[in-house]
Amino acid sequence: MTIALAILNQKGGTGKTPVTIHLAGALAVLGKRVLVLDLDGQADLSSGIGFKRDVYGTDGDSILGLLLDLKADPNPLIRRAPNDNFDVIPGNMQMYLAEQSLIGQRNRERRLARVFQRIETAYDYILVDCPPALNVVTDNALLACRRVLIPARMHRSYRGSINNLMGQINTLREVFEVDIEIVGVVPVGFEQQADQQAFMKALKENAPQLLAPVLRKRQTLIEDARDAGHSIFSYVPGGSYRKKAQRESQEDYLALAEFVIRRTAEEVS
Ligand SMILES: Nc1ncnc2c1ncn2[C@@H]1O[C@H](COP(=O)(O)OP(=O)(O)O)[C@@H](O)[C@H]1O
Ligand SMILES: [Mg+2]
Repeated sequence: MTIALAILNQKGGTGKTPVTIHLAGALAVLGKRVLVLDLDGQADLSSGIGFKRDVYGTDGDSILGLLLDLKADPNPLIRRAPNDNFDVIPGNMQMYLAEQSLIGQRNRERRLARVFQRIETAYDYILVDCPPALNVVTDNALLACRRVLIPARMHRSYRGSINNLMGQINTLREVFEVDIEIVGVVPVGFEQQADQQAFMKALKENAPQLLAPVLRKRQTLIEDARDAGHSIFSYVPGGSYRKKAQRESQEDYLALAEFVIRRTAEEVS
């Protein structure tokens, strides 16, 4: 059975894209067959995983075409990540037009779910990197995946964004009468600062099962790997200090992968 996860927080800069990339890398290391979808018009995932502009540039095929034409075949759009052991459907700037293009289309929130039905490879995991928004694109991601993983900076100002997202999930649950499970909240770029700890404490008290392993702050490594077009599992940094940072971050992402595997094997909670 394929397990799909929307990686979503409507706030930008919370770590959606790096979490999608490196979680995919970790799941692949654990032997899982993984497909990643880039739904963000910025196509940060597609460039950060090493595709050239001819793939994610404005003229390339995009997921938008699949959302607009239900007869379109998604399988030819699936590509191997240039440097990693997982598959990707790249995104491009056309995704910015999705909201507008889907107006007036029937079943416009359920189109990605239809696309999933046509994917022929039996993936263990499909990870969907979402734009920083709550719109028809993210509705499609939530309704197709039925599971969401929320990367969050543990700062006070991010609390509101999680509450908004929970509200949106509840609305979709009611309107479409579907279950959408929150798999976890992932503390990204964690440092021991007071309000980060307050956030974690609140989560621990209210929904301990949702607290995913923390991802320690590794800005330089994450950005160097992105510039090189690799996940941290295929990236080769220079210098022993950087190698240590990479080992630690790999540990964090493998712990996150184990958490995701465990949480998605459970019944909905
Ligand atoms: N361990 C980590 N994992 C992922 N991102 C991290 C980590 N440590 C620091 N960061 C930083 O967090 C930022 C969040 O990524 P970004 O692409 O801006 O998120 P989003 O896709 O949500 O907009 C990046 O600048 C990244 O370098
Ligand atoms: Mg992003």
